[in-house]
Amino acid sequence: MDVSRFPLVPGPSPMLVTHSEGMWFHTSDGRRILDAGGGAIVTNIGHGRQEIAQVAADALSQLDYVVPIFATEARVALVEEVSDHWLPDPSWRCVFVSGGSESVDAALRVAQLHHVACGRPERHKVIGRDVSYHGATVGALAAGSHDRRRKGLEHLLPSMPKTSYRDPDELEKVIEIEGAETISAFIGEPVIGAAAGAYVPPDDYWTRISEICAQHNILVIADEVMTGFGRLGATMGHEALGFTPDIIAAGKGLGGGYVPIGGVYCRPDVVEPIGKTDLALMFYTFAGQDLCCSVSKKVLEIVRTENLVAQAASMGELLRGRLEEEFQDHPNVESIRGRGLLQGLGLVADRETGDPFPRSAAFAETVTNIALENEVWVYPSGSGVFDDAVMFGPPFIVEESHIDQMVTVTRQAIDAAAAALS
Ligand SMILES: Cc1ncc(COP(=O)(O)O)c(C=O)c1O
Repeated sequence: MDVSRFPLVPGPSPMLVTHSEGMWFHTSDGRRILDAGGGAIVTNIGHGRQEIAQVAADALSQLDYVVPIFATEARVALVEEVSDHWLPDPSWRCVFVSGGSESVDAALRVAQLHHVACGRPERHKVIGRDVSYHGATVGALAAGSHDRRRKGLEHLLPSMPKTSYRDPDELEKVIEIEGAETISAFIGEPVIGAAAGAYVPPDDYWTRISEICAQHNILVIADEVMTGFGRLGATMGHEALGFTPDIIAAGKGLGGGYVPIGGVYCRPDVVEPIGKTDLALMFYTFAGQDLCCSVSKKVLEIVRTENLVAQAASMGELLRGRLEEEFQDHPNVESIRGRGLLQGLGLVADRETGDPFPRSAAFAETVTNIALENEVWVYPSGSGVFDDAVMFGPPFIVEESHIDQMVTVTRQAIDAAAAALS
């Protein structure tokens, strides 16, 4: 099969993936690749589960497209699954969308409409963080600060104030400069993924952020697209980090990689005022398709019944231990970080001085390419002060032998990439 016409923007031809099972995906040239990145930190129950294929077939044979304003059995069942087992409280409300960026965009709209409905239309600013990534729609890119993903688009993106990713007190200063009465929400990832390679903030960070926001009537949006649904070895990322947001945006693991799905979840008092007005939270045409809801419910049931959140916690510890053994003295690894099965390595030219590699070296990308040649997929990440990082986000069914393989191959890839540069 000719894949050269496949990319929108012409570039190197991508490999052709033909099928997947368990921890592995296979390519047309006969290679079996260990999925240490869970794709894009998505796959949680493992690839190729036949019971999921069956649920999908049954769902499609029963219903195809239903406009999102109508209820269907699958939609209601997924709302119940998510609110009964995954959200801070069963009273929380949710709506499903088709992915992470849509979740974030919808969360920003909910926050804004909340304030408008409460008679505060002047609260229109969202405070994001430097460093962060919230998705690739215009709104999500504007709320985030991933420099390489924003490059060339800066003039298209509405300007949104940013605060520190690690010093909660800086938020007070930003609020003072902007004026609390102009701010609708603060958005952040509990553990920063794509932009910072699994950076975990200081212990009191989220408690302090929550206090400051509550004091100024600013809604806290937790972007749990990467950290949600068990990834950090806890039900949701905010639980692992010890805070309760007002609104959550989450996708990725919600569908386990089998279907495109995300969602926005909020405390009832956030959305109740909107319901008393004529303000519209416009749906996306393909939001909450029956196929996606049926599959997603089955994925979450599997995570629960097979105790995979606890497994993500214990295998996360094992992975972290192996990373520490292998990299604690490595000259190009400045930090080993993360929670549960979202772990990352910060990569630098010189660990002693902290000097980064020049961006032109694309070090993290080179490392992941070399690892891929050696049949392990790890996820390249980083931006700004975290310019080069790689992340491990394997399926929760990962075993010790897989961990050994991903750590060993990554070590060899880092050594080879550094040797090529020097
Ligand atoms: C924290 C976070 N938010 C939002 C997104 C965007 O999600 P999607 O790519 O599914 O639109 C991502 C994707 O990596 C993410 O990591």
